[in-house]
Order: sequence, then C-alpha cells, then structure tokens
Amino acid sequence: MHLAIIMDGNGRWAQKRGLKRVEGHKKGAEVVKEITTYCANNPEIKILTLYAFSTENWKRPKMEVDFLMKLLDNYLKKELLTYIENEVKFEVIGDISKFSKNLRERIEYTKDKTKNFKKLTQVLALNYGSRDEITRAVKKMIEKEEEVTPENIQKNLDLSRDVDLLIRTSGEIRLSNFLLWQMAYAEMYFTKTMWPDFTSKELEKILNEFKKRERRFGGI
Ligand code: FPP
Repeated sequence: MHLAIIMDGNGRWAQKRGLKRVEGHKKGAEVVKEITTYCANNPEIKILTLYAFSTENWKRPKMEVDFLMKLLDNYLKKELLTYIENEVKFEVIGDISKFSKNLRERIEYTKDKTKNFKKLTQVLALNYGSRDEITRAVKKMIEKEEEVTPENIQKNLDLSRDVDLLIRTSGEIRLSNFLLWQMAYAEMYFTKTMWPDFTSKELEKILNEFKKRERRFGGI
C-alpha cells in the first residue's frame, strides 16, 4: 500500500514547550526516521510519501527556511546508513530546481546510493504542490503532443501511484495542496497528535483501523 503523511504541528509542539519553532522540526526529523524504519519493516507498506516542504513554505521567515534546508541536508547525510540498513529507496517529488546546488547534489547522491532497494520507497515531497505538479504534467503532455486522458495525465505526474491512506497530524482537517490527483480514492485519517509526538505505535493503530474500513472505489 501507499501511505502518505502530512507531517504537521512541529511549530506548535515547540511553542507549547517554550522552545523555538526549529526545535520542533529537529524532533520532527527524528520521527521521520522512526516512521520510515517502521514502514520498511512492515511488508504491507511499499511506498511512504512525506510532505516535507511545500511550494508555500517559502513564505516562512528566511531563518526557518534556511534551517529546514540544512536539516534536510544533515538528515540525508546522517541517515544514509539507515536507508541502506533498512533497504529503503529514496525518491523526491516536487520542483527542486530552486534548492542550493549542494542540497541538490546530496539528493541525487542519496537517490543513486539507494536506487536498487525494494523493501520500501520513501518519497519526500520537496518544494511540492499538487497544482504545480499537475500543471507541469500537462505542459509535458503538450510538448510530447500526447492525447489528454486521465491515464496520460497520471503517467506524467511526479508520482503516478494512487495513495491508499493519508494521515495528517496536528488536528487540521485539510489537504493543503498535497497529492490531490493521487488521493481521489484515498482513505483519510486525521489525528490531533503533533508530528513530533507521533509514534510507530499510533501508526500501527491507524493501520489497523484502515484495514477495517471497506473500500468500494465507487462500486457497491
Ligand atoms: C509542519 O509543521 C512541518 C513542516 C512544514 C516541515 C516538515 C519537516 C520535518 C518533519 C522535519 C524535517 C524533515 C525531514 C525529511 C528531515 P509546522 O511548522 O507547519 O507546524 P505548525 O503548524 O505547528 O506551525
């Protein structure tokens, strides 16, 4: 199955504890590691897509944006071994052309070193927005003079695989421009837990709930 997560609430988690917002992101990165490792060792989950940086996140103070970029770079450097040990393939969706050369190289290096792993694919959504992705897909189709069909649109997206289950943390009930096309038939689960407090135990509970839901895809 394809699990997608909107990791929300890092800032509020930190503020509630009298810490700087970036401390929430730091703890959030640790949770990314825990959840990815859990998913790699759960044979039912084949793809884990995480919303790490949206096309709208550039509007945050420069200091926070810079921190998130550095955190991502450090994470990929530090956790390469975790990807390898858990046989996780690393992929990215979104337009990373605006990222620094250094970060783009780190991303390419991590992708290359993990490209043959099959236990789990971890997809990070970076400078990602669903409308931007769909627009870029349509542009590609026009260039290639492809017929406009749902199948062709889907094929030209950054990520073609449908989402089975979406989780959003922090109690917000919205999709925030994340995988809109891919979530046409997704089950959705919203938890009040802030991302830095999210655990593989809670994920397991949600997965059990998901299994009980009856998915009909428009049939009866
Ligand atoms: C949402 O919390 C989170 C983000 C915008 C960034 C997500 C980043 C991480 C989880 C850490 C780094 C990721 C990796 C892959 C190493 P928010 O800041 O919007 O929280 P708020 O809504 O409480 O302000």
